[in-house]
This record gives sequence, C-alpha cells and structure tokens, in this order.
Amino acid sequence: MNKTTKILAAVLTAGIFAGGSAMAWNEGGGEQDEAEKILATFAGKTDAEKAKIREDGVAVYEVCSACHLPEGWGTPDGTFPQLAGQSANVIIKQLADIRAKNRDNPTMYPFALPKEIKNAAPEVGGGPYAIAAVAAYISKIPMNPANGVGPGTDLEHGKKLYKKNCVRCHGENGEGHSVDHFPLIQGQHFKYLIRQFEWIRDGKRRNANPDMIKQIAGFSDRDMTAVIDYVSRLKPPKNKLAPSADWINPDFD
Ligand code: HEC
Ligand code: HEC
Repeated sequence: MNKTTKILAAVLTAGIFAGGSAMAWNEGGGEQDEAEKILATFAGKTDAEKAKIREDGVAVYEVCSACHLPEGWGTPDGTFPQLAGQSANVIIKQLADIRAKNRDNPTMYPFALPKEIKNAAPEVGGGPYAIAAVAAYISKIPMNPANGVGPGTDLEHGKKLYKKNCVRCHGENGEGHSVDHFPLIQGQHFKYLIRQFEWIRDGKRRNANPDMIKQIAGFSDRDMTAVIDYVSRLKPPKNKLAPSADWINPDFD
C-alpha cells in the first residue's frame, strides 16, 4: 500500500464507523425489546407493585434530573429536551439507541450506561427493568406549560406544511403514536426541535425514521423554521400539563 491508498483506506474505515454502521430503524434489538416487554406488564400489577415501580423510576430519574431537571422540562435554549409527557415506548427506544450508539449524544452517553444507573440506584440495577421503570415515570410527569417557541412570523406556512407532511405520523396535534415509536412533539422547546429536525433532514441523526427523511427531503430552511415554529405552539391537553410554570416536582423536593 502506498501512502495515498493508506490514507484513503483510513478515511473510508473512519467513515464506516462514524456513519455507516446504523441499524435499520427501530431494530435496536435486545435491550429495547426486553424493556418494552417489561413495560407492558406494568398495567396488570397490583397497586402496591405499581407504587414500588414508580419509586424505582424516581430513584433512576435522579441521575437524569441533573440535566433534564427534576420537572423533566429541559431548557428553552434547547440544550436539554423536555422529557416529561413523552410516551414511555419512545423514551425506551431513544435510551436504547443512545446506549447502543445508534444516536449520538456524547453529553448524556456516560450517564445512560447500565453501570452509571446502577451506581445511582443500586437497588434497581441498570438493566431493562430500570429503563422501563424510569420511562414509565417520565411519561407521567406533568409537562411544562410555557415551553420555548419560535419567532411566530410564518405560522400559516408552517401549519400548511405540518398538515401535509407530519400529521400522518406525529398526529393532528403533535401527540405522536406510542406503539409505533412516533414521538410526541407538542409542547417541546423550539430550539431542541429545530436541531433534531435539521439533523434528521441532513442525515446526522442515525436512528431517524427513513420515511420521515424522505418526507422532508425537499424542505428549505424557511420551511423547516416555519413548520417547527408551528409544532412548538401545539399545546398538550390540559390533563398533561402542570398547573403553572412554577410547579415543583414534589418527588425531588
Ligand atoms: C449530562 C446531561 C444528561 C444526563 C445526565 C441525561 N441526559 Fe438525556 N439528554 C441529554 C441531552 C444533551 C440530550 C439531547 C441530545 C441531542 O440534542 O440530541 C438528551 C436527550 C435525551 C432523550 C431523547 C429525547 C427525545 O426527545 O428524543 C432521552 C429519552 C433522554 N435524554 C433520557 C435520559 C434519561 C432517562 C436519563 C437518566 C438515566 C438522562 N437522559 C440523563 C443530556 C443528559
Ligand atoms: C413516516 C413517519 C414520519 C413523518 C411523515 C414525520 N416524522 Fe418526525 N419522526 C418520526 C419518527 C419515527 C421519529 C423518531 C425517530 C427515532 O426513532 O429516533 C421522528 C422524530 C421527529 C423529531 C425529533 C423528536 C425528538 O424528540 O427528538 C422531530 C422534531 C420531528 N420528527 C418532526 C417532524 C415534522 C415537523 C414532520 C413533518 C414536516 C415529521 N416529523 C414527519 C416519524 C415521522
């Protein structure tokens, strides 16, 4: 091998490891499946068992609250997404993808590992049960009634784009579809949504849904800002919202 071919080979290999090893969408496998099976059993538990599962969820969430905040509301500047109110199946998939490095999240990665979760909540462990318990807990935290929104200057255009391109998967009001792993996007911070949308459009988020990528391939930056601005203003139903923007999560008082 001469020098140029060596460099070329190195670049190609790096390319394969950096982007080419994506799994097919929603084929995270083992851990995701196991956690979802465990999650599905929660509904049939006794009240005492449900209370214990909730307690375990709180214990695991303590680590997460350092970034996602005790209320699970994230930050309007988009650094940390709101997790509260997201469907448990979606949370499980995202966590499993982040752990499997099928979605890049260098900030969170170490804290999502079984070892870290087990350190923080030894009695719960760091495996699929811990993921299911924390996902179930997060999905029931009341949501931020005052999430960050976009500039509000192009909402008619955004609405048209949303109806035509997004309703099929994310629902009329951004509520998502939990069993299909289509995320709830209503009430999420504008700046987080726009980063994810751009990463999905431009192929940077490896676990993205291929049909969504196709659907938004022709979106200009104007289209993107308009549709995400519209999404950021879709309000969750009253029963999912916290009573006020000053609400404090009593589990972490
Ligand atoms: C050190 C900070 C940090 C900690 C601790 C952390 N996260 Fe995150 N998390 C992030 C960041 C940053 C993102 C957004 C990354 C991006 O923009 O793609 C994120 C994204 C997520 C997402 C994806 C949300 C979505 O809408 O797709 C989930 C789910 C999640 N975190 C769950 C958790 C759970 C559960 C824990 C605790 C076990 C946890 N995180 C701990 C920083 C953290
Ligand atoms: C074919 C179904 C489909 C269509 C159409 C679609 N999406 Fe998605 N979208 C998904 C799925 C599935 C995910 C989650 C991918 C994953 O598993 O990480 C997602 C993720 C997202 C995210 C990231 C959410 C988060 O919490 O990280 C945003 C933002 C988003 N979609 C916005 C839109 C908008 C706006 C439209 C319309 C312009 C749209 N999507 C069209 C299926 C779809």
